[in-house]
Amino acid sequence: MAYNLLKGKRGIITGALDPNSIAWKVAEKVFEEGGQFVLTNAPLAMRMGKINELAAACNTQVIPADATSIEDLTVLFNSAQEILGGKIDFILHSIGMSPNIRKSKPYEDLNYDWFAKTLDISALSFHKIMHVADKTDALNEGASIVALSYIASQRVFPDYTDMAQAKAVLESIARSFGQVLGKKKKVRVNTISQSPTMTTAGQGIDGFDAFFTYADKMSPLGNASAEACADYCISLFSDLTRHVTMQNLFHDGGFSSTGISEAIVEALTPKA
Ligand SMILES: NC(=O)c1ccc[n+]([C@@H]2O[C@H](COP(=O)([O-])OP(=O)(O)OC[C@H]3O[C@@H](n4cnc5c(N)ncnc54)[C@H](O)[C@@H]3O)[C@@H](O)[C@H]2O)c1
Repeated sequence: MAYNLLKGKRGIITGALDPNSIAWKVAEKVFEEGGQFVLTNAPLAMRMGKINELAAACNTQVIPADATSIEDLTVLFNSAQEILGGKIDFILHSIGMSPNIRKSKPYEDLNYDWFAKTLDISALSFHKIMHVADKTDALNEGASIVALSYIASQRVFPDYTDMAQAKAVLESIARSFGQVLGKKKKVRVNTISQSPTMTTAGQGIDGFDAFFTYADKMSPLGNASAEACADYCISLFSDLTRHVTMQNLFHDGGFSSTGISEAIVEALTPKA
């Protein structure tokens, strides 16, 4: 059911690669809620993914941009405002990639050049996006900026390796930039800490199926789906959450507050 919550709002949605991507679901929901937006992704990903199909379905355009490049981001913000006909009201940062995870490097033996790449792509890109938006005065008063995080920023999950540090930096950037942009233009900046979700990035992590099932069994509400995450993003982009900022918001069915669940106790109790 749509409520027209984003009518008249203009935005930029990063990270839609294929229909499993969280950003893909967000784009579909924003469209349903009456928001206008441009899509963007890394030039390489655009060749592999299906983003043009999404653009056609949402009556919009794709602007290629490597989120680590200030030059690309400057073009992105200029073109987005030109296409949409005004300043930006919402931004979704839905970008993550670790070469160390891709190449199955164990945490105690990371390649440091790749580690720097992980941080640049998955965390500093969030800073760069807000830096360019601020420098080019591309944001409307009261705009809302959301990035997607994961609880491994705060607790240890094997095989998430250097992405754990990237998410910790991402969440910290939301607080620091939230203060700057809040004072300047009442812009909100938050991260959503999302349940494990079956996407290309998620499934790239060794043992992902097991920790997806574990999180589902731990959470009283079960894992939050990509669609549910998209609904939460809509609420944060809307005018209904004007005073929510500088937060890391758990969207995880209760996982982060659970010590152990009956389902896990049952699974670990030896059968008589
Ligand atoms: N899937 C999960 O379990 C899960 C859980 C919590 C948080 N998240 C986060 O959600 C976000 C979206 O991931 P997803 O799970 O939808 O997977 P996904 O693979 O569909 O999305 C990741 C996106 O990042 C893009 N990207 C990579 N390098 C880039 C670059 N240099 N410039 C621009 N874009 C680039 C990819 O092309 C891709 O579209 C990520 O930040 C991820 O860490 C995912």
